[in-house]
Amino acid sequence: MKIAIGCDHGGINLKPVLIDYLEKKGVEYVDFGCYDKTSTDYNEYALKVANAVANGECDKGILFCGTGIGMSIVANKVKGIRCGHCHDVFSAKMTRLHNDANVMALGERVVGPGLMLEIVDAFIFTDFSGDERHARRVQKIKDLEEKSFK
Ligand code: RB5
Repeated sequence: MKIAIGCDHGGINLKPVLIDYLEKKGVEYVDFGCYDKTSTDYNEYALKVANAVANGECDKGILFCGTGIGMSIVANKVKGIRCGHCHDVFSAKMTRLHNDANVMALGERVVGPGLMLEIVDAFIFTDFSGDERHARRVQKIKDLEEKSFK
C-alpha cells in the first residue's frame, strides 16, 4: 500500500508525526509537501495528493491543513476522489466501510497528534465493506461525476 501525503503550513506539524508512524508500520508513502512553515495555499497540495490517488500512483491520500476543510473541498473536486473529512475514529472507519473514501483530510487546529494517528490507523487499515447498498451508493457518486465533469 502506498499513501500520498500532503499539508499546508496549517498542517505542517502533523506530517512528521504521520511519516514516523508510516515508517514504523512499514507503509510506503510519497510526500507531496509542503516542507516548511511559510504561508502557502492548501489547494496546491490537495491537488497533488488527489491526482496521485486518482491516477493510481498511490492507493490512498492523507491531507492536513488547519481545519481539513480547504483540503477536503479541493480533493473532492478531482474526479475519482472521495475525500472524508474526519476528526474521530468512528467517522474514519465508516468513511472506509460505507463510502470507500480514498483520501482523508484532517485539521491540525482540531486534533492533536495522538488522536490523528488513531484516525489515520482506522482509515488505512479498514477495508470497504463491499455491501451491495454501499457499493450502489458509491456507484451513484461515480455516475454523478461522469455527468458533472462533462
Ligand atoms: C490557513 O490559515 C488555513 O486557512 C488552512 O490551513 C485551512 O484550514 C483551510 O481550510
